[in-house]
Amino acid sequence: MGKVAVGATIVCAAAVCAAAALLVRHRMRSSGKWYRAMAILKEFEEKCGTPILKLKQVADAMDVEMHAGLASEGGSKLKMLISYVDNLPSGHEKGIFYALDLGGTNFRVIRVKLGGREKGVAHQEFDEVSIPPHLMTGSSEALFDFIAEALAKFIDSEPEAFHPPPGRQRELGFTFSFPVRQTSIASGTLIRWTKGFNIEDVVGQDVVGELTKSLEKIGIDMRVSALVNDTIGTLAGGRFHNPDVVAAVILGTGTNAAYVERAQAIPKWHGPLPKSGEMVINTEWGNYRSSHLPLTEYDDHLDEESLNPGEQVFEKLISGMYLGEIVRRVLLKMAEEAEFFGDTVPAKLKQPFILRTPDVSAMHHDTSPDLKVVGNTLKDVLEVSNTSLKTRKIVVEVCDIVVTRGARLSAAGILGILKKIGRDTVKVGEKQKTVIALDGGLFEHYTKFRSCLESTMNELLGDEVAETIVIEHSNDGSGIGAALLAASHSQYLGLDES
Ligand code: GLC
Repeated sequence: MGKVAVGATIVCAAAVCAAAALLVRHRMRSSGKWYRAMAILKEFEEKCGTPILKLKQVADAMDVEMHAGLASEGGSKLKMLISYVDNLPSGHEKGIFYALDLGGTNFRVIRVKLGGREKGVAHQEFDEVSIPPHLMTGSSEALFDFIAEALAKFIDSEPEAFHPPPGRQRELGFTFSFPVRQTSIASGTLIRWTKGFNIEDVVGQDVVGELTKSLEKIGIDMRVSALVNDTIGTLAGGRFHNPDVVAAVILGTGTNAAYVERAQAIPKWHGPLPKSGEMVINTEWGNYRSSHLPLTEYDDHLDEESLNPGEQVFEKLISGMYLGEIVRRVLLKMAEEAEFFGDTVPAKLKQPFILRTPDVSAMHHDTSPDLKVVGNTLKDVLEVSNTSLKTRKIVVEVCDIVVTRGARLSAAGILGILKKIGRDTVKVGEKQKTVIALDGGLFEHYTKFRSCLESTMNELLGDEVAETIVIEHSNDGSGIGAALLAASHSQYLGLDES
């Protein structure tokens, strides 16, 4: 072989070696990155673990907190608010009533015609209006004026058959789904906002007073006959259809539970003992917190950067407002520390709350072999294209971890309530049914969340007790429930019977 040929061979060999080394280094680097991404995932999964023992501790601690919250005002993170509802609907309610359901990004105005035992809810109609984001953090006057206008429009367009007889006022049940310290069935002051609302001038104010001012301003003659939380409305609506309903849970933008308590088990209640001997309690369980909760660094950061740091910790683990945001935070860490979506971190992924729980749900329920929905969602929402199947599978895993934790913790919360009312066991020979009315978009639309919640309930209760507990979807019960309570607290009560 001539010198030139030898030289060329050496150069070629060197080039091949260098290319191979580059390839190996690239592979090592990317497998290193992948390894790092998997480590982040694994650690997150471990921290989110909810074995049965932990869930039972969560339920026990909740039971303890419920006792403390009932004992004295401020006795617990669980507010255990007295609703002044000591009589749930009997089914005999009659007449035309209105409801206003405010508590998320939309509100509803509803009209129902109650037909008593035989006819039940004979007619119902509603308008749904979305709240412009600036009104969620503006002034109370602006928000309530906006609502009053929607109510005026709804009334103006109604057929004459629904007009009240001369000299009578329309009556409204106001579902206001925030923590309120009630001063009567139809009045109460806002303790604080939750779920992304932050209108300072109404905190500590009588919310019915605020609404009434706006109604009067545009000449609507309407009396607010009941002010209720959505959990209370759902409980009332559920009880109207089923006498075995004793508790209600909302799993939607926020989460909360209400239940029927023995009046004597409420030491902080100093009013007269209700004839029924019972009082409905709004637990505000969204604010529950315990050292048993499986909190991760992502939850801590979400909380610190939220509008209400240190508050609604249980809610921030469970509810629809936050699930998507937790997933986003995990994916962001994987992108930043492990180039999970390529060498640049997608700009959109840095935007808080860009990934919503409905997006997570769509990805989580994707059954296509190549996870097309996941690919499209990543592209449409986060502007990340060309993801590999391997990457998309991991994204689904993150969704699964976050949602499974939320659903299992909700089940633990329900167990806490069952413990408090002594329905977590069955006495020999007794098979009393306990029905819990459930509502909220998360429960209604997120199938995997719902089925995980239900199977965890069975796991926690065991077969024998599980047979006595029924979880019933109470569709939009909170609005109807408020109308029912307006009916049972109507100023004209008794006048129509004669
Ligand atoms: C938030 C509110 C609570 C409401 C729940 C569900 O937790 O504080 O009042 O019931 O969301 O809407």
